[in-house]
Amino acid sequence: MSAQLIDGNALSTEIRLRLAERAAALASRGVIPCLAVILAGEDPASSVYVRNKVNACEKAGMLSLRDTYPADVDPALVFARIAELNADAKVHGILVQLPLPKQFDSQAVLEAISPEKDVDGFHAENVGALMQGTPRFIPCTPYGVMEMLKSRNVTLKGAEAVIVGRSNIVGKPMAMLLLAAGCTVTICHSQTRDLAFHTRRADILVAAVGREKMLTGDMIKEGATVIDVGINRMADGKLCGDVDFASACAVAGLITPVPGGVGPMTITMLLSNTIEAAERAAGKRAKT
Ligand code: GUN
Repeated sequence: MSAQLIDGNALSTEIRLRLAERAAALASRGVIPCLAVILAGEDPASSVYVRNKVNACEKAGMLSLRDTYPADVDPALVFARIAELNADAKVHGILVQLPLPKQFDSQAVLEAISPEKDVDGFHAENVGALMQGTPRFIPCTPYGVMEMLKSRNVTLKGAEAVIVGRSNIVGKPMAMLLLAAGCTVTICHSQTRDLAFHTRRADILVAAVGREKMLTGDMIKEGATVIDVGINRMADGKLCGDVDFASACAVAGLITPVPGGVGPMTITMLLSNTIEAAERAAGKRAKT
């Protein structure tokens, strides 16, 4: 079998057209969706992600604010800025890029963001809502993955879904979404004893570990849908995923490429969440 690609760029373009209509409808009511992004430290990958997020807002006719801080910033300054952004009615979404420098209590920072503006969906209230099956903001990467599965009508009810990686950003929320959609979900991680035993059972395999090409074709079931969330920079400077694309393509039914797969979808769903936040805020104002 030679796998078909799920093209994240093409799907993003399609979704962003619909988002542009929603942004235009808001603009006609005098509301321009605005995302505020906070970056602390000089992590090169984070800087690229933040730049891409800010650029995507501009292209979508949205506003963005970017605050950057040196790696040794006093956390009090960041907390003060978050409080300001929480209180600013013109700001609809707030995102603090992770990871944060070591002097930060990351969870405390995420909890400081108003849940109504938490477009990452990382605040405990939003995590709890997702867990209860009543999501308010769905974390952008797993949200994008669900959209990719939907775009190809991948059967979710009763499917065996295996997620490799248990992060708060991807693995755990991904599990909740697939579970809600009717999958039987397994989460594997660094202490999983026989990883291949689990991955070979997967109808849907989501790789989110951050290790270059660690899932190879022999670990994948014939015809499986393989979603590669990893973005790793190889020694030659090129990007690759957590899946060994060449060997996986020979057995998978559907597969996402890296780059051009989940990455653009993450940003698209961030735009979607920000527009959603703006619509909710505008709706609230219309009623008062
Ligand atoms: N770092 C890696 N992925 C993400 C993400 O989706 N949101 C934030 N805030 N930081 C990240």
